[in-house]
Amino acid sequence: MSETTTTPRADVAVIGGSGFYSFLPEAEQVEVSTPYGEPSSAISVGEVGGTRVAFLPRHGRDHRYPPHLIPYRANLWALRSLGVKQVIAPCAVGGLRPEVAPGDVVVPDQLVDRTYRRNPSFVERGGVHLPFADPYCPGVRTALVGAAEDIKDGGTMVVIEGPRFSTRAESQAYAASGWTLINMTATPEAPLAREMGMCYASMALVTDMDAGAEGEHGVSADEVMALFAQNLERLHGILGSAVAALPDPADCSCASWLEATPPTYAIPDPD
Ligand code: ADE
Repeated sequence: MSETTTTPRADVAVIGGSGFYSFLPEAEQVEVSTPYGEPSSAISVGEVGGTRVAFLPRHGRDHRYPPHLIPYRANLWALRSLGVKQVIAPCAVGGLRPEVAPGDVVVPDQLVDRTYRRNPSFVERGGVHLPFADPYCPGVRTALVGAAEDIKDGGTMVVIEGPRFSTRAESQAYAASGWTLINMTATPEAPLAREMGMCYASMALVTDMDAGAEGEHGVSADEVMALFAQNLERLHGILGSAVAALPDPADCSCASWLEATPPTYAIPDPD
């Protein structure tokens, strides 16, 4: 008798950030190869409240990839190849303004991309220009905002190249621009998800006040990791509620731009 092996499927993905390396208790580990190389790690696939969920730690399980070297294109391609249509992206962020404080969970609604040496797109030829005025999926955002009472709704996140933290002057300039949060990974992750036709929203845990907002020692990686570790259980709870509240992706327009602009790159279609 011949044995058939099938790749497990998932509808929703969670991409874990710094300090968030596992999520699903009884998961199958899937190795996915992509035209863009290997993803950050094997992908765990399991269930959360009856929904098929894939989990991928964006820095790798041993945090081997610093933010500027994460294989973003392989990660998003691999998730789509498993069937994923909706992505929730927890991430560690610094606070820039007094509206936020360490320990806050914020669902940002805008992005400013200050990265400059990453490959930001699957587009390698042709006139494909991603519509990105509203970078986050409204349906996934709503599910996240409603997942716990103390979640803060909205804010602009500036994404810096890293891996170093900002100087005080850089940080003060970002805050003076009215931006609330600072991070090193939300781009190109968010636009690549949309190029793959997937809904995407960030769930930002404020781990520190950035150098311009904090008067003394500046930010350290240990501080970021420690605060993330302290909040892991809470984040798992929020994610469980958010996954249960996700709307039907068929009712969302995040992927509809692909009907008007046929992509010049291949999108995996496991359906
Ligand atoms: N991630 C967590 N804290 C950060 C900060 N202050 N700047 C950039 N990325 C961060």
